[in-house]
Amino acid sequence: MKIGKGKIVYITGGSSGIGLCAGNLLAEKGADILIFARGMDQLEQATAEIRSHSASEVQRIGCMQLDVSDHRAVQHVMNRAVAEFGCPDLLINSAGRARPDYFGKIPCKQMDETMRINFYGVWNSVSALLPHMKQKGGHIANVSSIAGFLGVFGYTDYCASKFAVMGFSEALRSEVKPYKIRVSVLCPPDTDTPGLAAEEGTKPEETRVIAANAKVLQPEAVAKALVNGIERSRFMIIPGLDGKFTWLIKRLFPRLVDAVMDRKIGKVQKGKAPT
Ligand SMILES: NC(=O)c1ccc[n+]([C@@H]2O[C@H](COP(=O)([O-])OP(=O)(O)OC[C@H]3O[C@@H](n4cnc5c(N)ncnc54)[C@H](OP(=O)(O)O)[C@@H]3O)[C@@H](O)[C@H]2O)c1
Repeated sequence: MKIGKGKIVYITGGSSGIGLCAGNLLAEKGADILIFARGMDQLEQATAEIRSHSASEVQRIGCMQLDVSDHRAVQHVMNRAVAEFGCPDLLINSAGRARPDYFGKIPCKQMDETMRINFYGVWNSVSALLPHMKQKGGHIANVSSIAGFLGVFGYTDYCASKFAVMGFSEALRSEVKPYKIRVSVLCPPDTDTPGLAAEEGTKPEETRVIAANAKVLQPEAVAKALVNGIERSRFMIIPGLDGKFTWLIKRLFPRLVDAVMDRKIGKVQKGKAPT
């Protein structure tokens, strides 16, 4: 799908990081953009930023406050969005967050929240919008992660939620094809966003060491890869060479990837009491 003038794009998590950069890029291409998130101040700032990237003055750029983990609220707000803004041609589900820690330190409440935001959030917005999108076709892009196909130390709850996004997207892909709706799943590596900065407080040392040699991408580069992938109707979109390489090696030699990670973890844990 070529994204440009006249196309309507909805972005959950569009007020920050990867979602915001995708909004900026798609506004430059001439699309109308509606972003969703919980914090109103940040939504308004992001709307102004996206508007400043618009290709023309007639483009519509707007925002709506929404917690994607609240199923009823998502139904209500998305129906209002369709009535006021029009049915989306492209839905990008970018709302999400990670709070890395040792498994033993992750309470059930955190696991519940992680699933509710990262996975149910995707489910909620797709279930609210799909009945509308089936009428005209379009594209759904769900943001997963490298941690959506690779289990990473310190991310037990996050990996579970992002693997869920992968499985959901793969199953959905074939179900919605007859309606001329394409599905993509974006798997970014570490990306320099406020979301990544927020992980620093709790990230275990082992997690840091595993990620130490991987290149951190800029959100603009990730957004560019996302938009290119959507325009080429790619299912798996993995920005950056490191991520593509990891995907390939994980598929071809899964034990090798485990062994490399275990070696790095072992070095950190040498002499440390088990957590
Ligand atoms: N940055 C990375 O290294 C990285 C790597 C792989 C995958 N990802 C994934 O990429 C996506 C974007 O991450 P990012 O790093 O760009 O994060 P970010 O800068 O923290 O932005 C997250 C966005 O999601 C919104 N959000 C969070 N919880 C929400 C909720 N319950 N309902 C509605 N909106 C919500 C936030 O706004 P409010 O808080 O105001 O609601 C914000 O707009 C996430 O799904 C993340 O898991 C990120």
